[in-house]
Amino acid sequence: MVYGDSMDAARIVGYFKGKSILVTGSTGFLGKILVEKILRVQPDANKLYLLVRGTDASSAQQRVQKEVIDSELFGLLREKHGADRFQQFIQDKVVALSGDIIHENLGLEAPMLKDLAEEIDVIVNIAATTNFYGRYDVSLDVNVMGVKHLCHFAKQCPRLKMLMQVSTAYVCGDREGLILEKPIEPGESLREGTYLDVDAELRLVREAKKELMMMNSSSDGDARKTAERKAMKELGLQRARHFGWSNTYVFTKAMGEMLLGQLRGDMPVVVMRPSIITSVRADPLPGWMQGTRTIDTLIIGYAKQNLSCFLGDLSVVVDVVPGDMVANAMMAAMVEHSEEKGAAAVPVYHATSSLRNPATYSVLYEAGRRHFYENPRVGKNGEIVPTREMCFFTTIARFHLYMLLTFKLPLEILHLVNLLLCGLFSRLYNDLNRKYKFVMHLVDVYGVGIFGPSPCKSK
Ligand SMILES: NC(=O)c1ccc[n+]([C@@H]2O[C@H](COP(=O)([O-])OP(=O)(O)OC[C@H]3O[C@@H](n4cnc5c(N)ncnc54)[C@H](OP(=O)(O)O)[C@@H]3O)[C@@H](O)[C@H]2O)c1
Repeated sequence: MVYGDSMDAARIVGYFKGKSILVTGSTGFLGKILVEKILRVQPDANKLYLLVRGTDASSAQQRVQKEVIDSELFGLLREKHGADRFQQFIQDKVVALSGDIIHENLGLEAPMLKDLAEEIDVIVNIAATTNFYGRYDVSLDVNVMGVKHLCHFAKQCPRLKMLMQVSTAYVCGDREGLILEKPIEPGESLREGTYLDVDAELRLVREAKKELMMMNSSSDGDARKTAERKAMKELGLQRARHFGWSNTYVFTKAMGEMLLGQLRGDMPVVVMRPSIITSVRADPLPGWMQGTRTIDTLIIGYAKQNLSCFLGDLSVVVDVVPGDMVANAMMAAMVEHSEEKGAAAVPVYHATSSLRNPATYSVLYEAGRRHFYENPRVGKNGEIVPTREMCFFTTIARFHLYMLLTFKLPLEILHLVNLLLCGLFSRLYNDLNRKYKFVMHLVDVYGVGIFGPSPCKSK
């Protein structure tokens, strides 16, 4: 997304004054950043309704308090209001709703849904299941049907000015060159000769589950659940790959976008596609990040010196974008397209960095290496963990060769010895074989992303 001077901060902030905003996914990383930002820059927003999963209103309220408001991310806002008045401010502005977007009525009682619809000006759908290798049925429920249910709700909101769908830049797949910010058309897939039909995918899942039930009818409950989980995960990956996407998450996010385009009618909608969202750059807390996610896993692995080699081409751009910049871009895009009814195409924005500020894996590696040489990690017993150079595999083929020579061949030898010694090393062999398979599976699921070209380019 390219910022222009015309979109000045005052106009963006002013827009949210008096507005009632429904946000899904506020307990998550990006959701929190957006909620904090709106409350901080526009204290005169009317209300922020946060739809969170909970067993009842009180558990939803507790989740919002504990996981959102009490987060250190809200420290600046707390300081701004003063500790005493802060909680009152939150009580006046923030309403927790116990719900779930997988349900047609968002999991809300009819009277509540009706009252909410009367009041809402803006809907921001941030909720998603972000597991790359998640169950297909669950990913479809949240990332696809969730969008449908919110669209349906949005149509009942007479004051609605904006419905924003947060997607991902990786719906564009592993393509090179200039990729335009255009919506996903009905039936569109990344693989020539295939037609992606959301209803057919839903039917396929229903039938696969029915078949699994029949096949495993004699197994006990736990075994049935395990078999179903495994089968659903595999089906997701298989369908994603069939249509040209690398994993279930990005595939179902693409379907969510497609459905939004089909169902939006003349509603004002915008799709925001961030790439890899990293920690906050500036406001309200530089460096803030929720948990360990995306590339942090690599950084921590390197800091602990658990990661001795890395599978990736150092010249590939790691498309990372700070969370606060994504929230800012979301707010700007909402304002720009507010009340834009019946736009010919759904406006799409990529919140990415690859073209304007490319950071390659070598930049990440050099920065990490420098940092940990200067500030080495201290182990449990106070000993310095020395920082070592990492080795890199620039192609999957080289990695496979390394794995074959270093692990697979010795494993096969162990297997033979084990057979000759009547299973003396069975436990060791099974354990090492399981670990080997796990690593190869990770490479299969994530490998495309770290070897492939950076998929997103700003307009
Ligand atoms: N993080 C990234 O690098 C990145 C990059 C590109 C795009 N995105 C997109 O940005 C959005 C936010 O990502 P994130 O990293 O903040 O994700 P996250 O931390 O995993 O948060 C996901 C949020 O969605 C909620 N959620 C999941 N299923 C739900 C359901 N059925 N009903 C209601 N809420 C539900 C979760 O609630 P619970 O707390 O109850 O689980 C949580 O609040 C997603 O749409 C994702 O696709 C993220």
